[in-house]
Amino acid sequence: MSDGGTSRASVFERGGARKTAEGLSYLTGFGNEHASEAVPGALPEGRNSPQRAPLGLYAEQLSGTAFTEPRAHNRRSWLYRIRPSAAHPAFTRTDNGAIRTAPFTETVPDPNRLRWNPLPEPPAGTDFLGGLWTLGGNGDATQRSGMAVHLYHANASMERVFSDADGELLIVPERGGLLLHTEFGRLHVEPAEVALIPRGVRFRVELLDESARGYVCENYGAPFQLPDLGPIGANGLANARDFRAPVAAYEDVEGPVEVVNKFCGNLWTATYDHSPLDVVAWHGNHVPYVYDLRRFNVIGTISYDHPDPSIFTVLTSPSDTPGLAGVDFVVFAPRWLVGEDTFRPPYFHRNVMSEYMGLIEGAYDAKAEGFVPGGGSLHNMMSAHGPDRETFDRASAAELRPQKIDDGLAFMFETRWPVTLTPHAAGAEFLQRRYDDVWQGLERHFRA
Ligand SMILES: [Fe+2]
Repeated sequence: MSDGGTSRASVFERGGARKTAEGLSYLTGFGNEHASEAVPGALPEGRNSPQRAPLGLYAEQLSGTAFTEPRAHNRRSWLYRIRPSAAHPAFTRTDNGAIRTAPFTETVPDPNRLRWNPLPEPPAGTDFLGGLWTLGGNGDATQRSGMAVHLYHANASMERVFSDADGELLIVPERGGLLLHTEFGRLHVEPAEVALIPRGVRFRVELLDESARGYVCENYGAPFQLPDLGPIGANGLANARDFRAPVAAYEDVEGPVEVVNKFCGNLWTATYDHSPLDVVAWHGNHVPYVYDLRRFNVIGTISYDHPDPSIFTVLTSPSDTPGLAGVDFVVFAPRWLVGEDTFRPPYFHRNVMSEYMGLIEGAYDAKAEGFVPGGGSLHNMMSAHGPDRETFDRASAAELRPQKIDDGLAFMFETRWPVTLTPHAAGAEFLQRRYDDVWQGLERHFRA
């Protein structure tokens, strides 16, 4: 055992997990060609696949894009590991729990505006994977297009390892810190931060608090990238240098480890005779990362009119159509409102895109009540939505002095296709039955 490695026993010491998480160091930058080694000399110099890799390690490439995709979009990493990933027994099917995958065909797409309260408490011993609950989604995972919206509520750390061949996972914690043990090393993520696990990367989730709750966007399509900035210029929105990737850290564990693989919508399991989190060194740009949403450089009007909320895009997954995202991840972060002669909250609209919104903390400025942290709303393609009556009345009458919006952090998964619900989301007890009421009583003011 070297300094860079950990045994499973030490990893599972509960009290030490937060200290470990808070002491982690990171590599910085989005999409960089990172390199890291947990043991000096573990990373080959000058080539990817030497005849004999250093320290008796196996060299292995992990491709997140096709070999031949343009250099600007190409994602791959080289891993130097104790055993190659190929050294595993056959996978067998296991229960999918509450996880569902596109195509979503179990319910009829719903044009209604929908809103949910948070997931209820799960049974004791529920880990992140067991606590994943699919709300709905679109596209087709086997065609690598579309996305799924999941929620999670967990109260136990994973002792098994998970990987998702169907897409990358954008984890948005709302309650409880997480220590993510990945093939590339460890990431600490707290509410108001997000973490991304790339397609196929194995990881397990250790809880840093009594329970953990949040949201996950599973993106079947092109990997999330930073949006182009156009006339904004060379800086702004999410700055590339604020994205943090792990440094190499590995588990040298001999003994049974359950590995669960999500593949074309089903969970498959195998019991390895070692931990697959055994990567001692790596380099590349197909890497997990964390980002602190409080670092987002919010840009808005300094004259009049609320810009389209695309101005709040943190990450985007482009489609084959220029400017049309498979899914955008958008944040409504603390900001100043200074627009003159302007209705300042997000305006009424109908959108060809479909919007799932969640709330990480506080309140959202277009919904005075009923939209609570851990809950969420879905406004599918062309459904009419906007501020509720109370917000409309208040914002229409407000004196337009500079105003700081600093009591909430909301986000949106905005996607090109309607989101079709799972049966358990459509029939959930915590689906609010009278959401339409927030737009009732908008009075007629017209005078010819
Ligand atoms: Fe909207």
